[in-house]
Amino acid sequence: MTRGKILLLSVIMCCTIMVSAALADVNLPKPKITGGDGIFNLLQKRASGTRGEFPKGDVSIEDLSTILWAGTGLNRDGKGWTIPLAGGKPPYVKIYAVKRDGVFQYDWKAHSLIEISDKNVMGEITGDGFVKDSSCILVFVTDTADMGSMTNLNAGNSLAFTAAGAISQNIYLAADALGISTRYMVSMKADAVKKELKLKEIDVPICIMPLGKR
Ligand SMILES: Cc1cc2nc3c(=O)[nH]c(=O)nc-3n(C[C@H](O)[C@H](O)[C@H](O)COP(=O)(O)O)c2cc1C
Repeated sequence: MTRGKILLLSVIMCCTIMVSAALADVNLPKPKITGGDGIFNLLQKRASGTRGEFPKGDVSIEDLSTILWAGTGLNRDGKGWTIPLAGGKPPYVKIYAVKRDGVFQYDWKAHSLIEISDKNVMGEITGDGFVKDSSCILVFVTDTADMGSMTNLNAGNSLAFTAAGAISQNIYLAADALGISTRYMVSMKADAVKKELKLKEIDVPICIMPLGKR
């Protein structure tokens, strides 16, 4: 083989390795689906993490798995979801996990994280220091492009905002049961969110929820 061919082959191999490294999806561990504090105790305590004292502790992949499952995971042996959805449609709110090691989209079907980018964009998408310094920022985004005959886009988005209420309350309660604080926030840098999460033009960022272990 000529030197030129060897060089070309090496370049192709390097590119292949770089591309596969950049697209590392994550299979989430099984979520915790039993135990924890009782629902009435959790409701009694439900609160947003305080802005000035928001915890910075690491949220493990096991805890993130449980929190995302609480958000829009499958329940009833795969026959339904943890939140009510209009017409029993699959979740029309996408949840992204923005972490120091990249941006990921939660895939509720596979219970996995799809890697969108390997950049740390936590400081780009928020102007709040405590959010940037948290362990992980969840971002909810409307996914109403394909709601079929059910509704038009505006009505679809209002269904998505309603779903976001149910998702966020599930996340508040599940996170607290794991000793994790969170806070529902509409303040975010929406243009940066759209860019860094590689959203479609019609996708609307709804809110963010930073997570931190106490
Ligand atoms: C629709 C909505 C939007 C919110 N947006 C923000 C926000 O942008 N920034 C923030 O720090 N908190 C935000 N919050 C959190 C509220 O300020 C918080 O829930 C409220 O102070 C009550 O505190 P509690 O959740 O501990 O009961 C928001 C809450 C809701 C329901």
